[in-house]
Amino acid sequence: MIDIQDVTYKIAGQPILQDVSLQLDKGGIIALIGPNGAGKSTLLSLVARLLPLQTGTIRVDDLQIGQTVDTVLAKKLGILPQELTVASRLTIRDLVGFGRYPYHKGRPSADDHDRVDTALHLFDLSDLAERQLETLSGGQRQRAFVAMAYVQDTDYLLLDEPLNNLDIAASRALMTLLRDLTAGRKRTVVIVLHDINYAAAYADRIIALKAGRVVADGAPDAVVTAALLRDVFETPANVTTVARRQVVLV
Ligand SMILES: Nc1ncnc2c1ncn2[C@@H]1O[C@H](COP(=O)(O)OP(=O)(O)O)[C@@H](O)[C@H]1O
Ligand SMILES: [Mg+2]
Repeated sequence: MIDIQDVTYKIAGQPILQDVSLQLDKGGIIALIGPNGAGKSTLLSLVARLLPLQTGTIRVDDLQIGQTVDTVLAKKLGILPQELTVASRLTIRDLVGFGRYPYHKGRPSADDHDRVDTALHLFDLSDLAERQLETLSGGQRQRAFVAMAYVQDTDYLLLDEPLNNLDIAASRALMTLLRDLTAGRKRTVVIVLHDINYAAAYADRIIALKAGRVVADGAPDAVVTAALLRDVFETPANVTTVARRQVVLV
């Protein structure tokens, strides 16, 4: 479980997150939604220790963030940040291989190479493996970033807007893969999504943030309602039901 207790985070005195407490049980897909600037990326960054905690505590199973060695946490929890800058001359294979670094520390074993091959295959990147990142489309690059996070083989995977730049086929393929990964409560995926319809279709639980606070938390059919979306996003929302699933009309 990821246990977030009373987390407040301020920048220059301005609260970015306020009194956030969440228990994210192991297993399944948890979608984080909310308007731009709500604090979604900040929350993921705190859990993944990319930002230092100011107030409150975060535990990942028995590990306390801020008091655990990075290399131990790196085998427990992986993150794909919203913005990632890497050397564009890297090949896809090298980039994905970085995901194994916590295990091999620079000396990949045959098993590490096998796992990279498997990830390249899963994310439909095998044919692009030797290409440099700068020669890829945005969507192809995004798939490679997700593959790098995946190959780290952690119980918890945090993905910040991984559907950016992905077409409908790649989006569905990624969400289906994540659903398979989390089936049987094996892995836990916490994913920031802007498209509510993907959250409704694939997530087990949806948490809405607004202005640094949790404003909704529950099963998709409880959260994806016209009234709630209007309050959270401050725009009229038309929600209908198709094939027993709530769909937001745009
Ligand atoms: N380095 C920073 N300096 C000032 N404000 C920041 C900084 N980083 C984030 N913020 C502010 O914090 C708020 C939350 O940002 P973020 O967590 O990225 O939101 P989200 O991911 O939900 O869009 C935003 O209002 C953003 O402008
Ligand atoms: Mg963000």
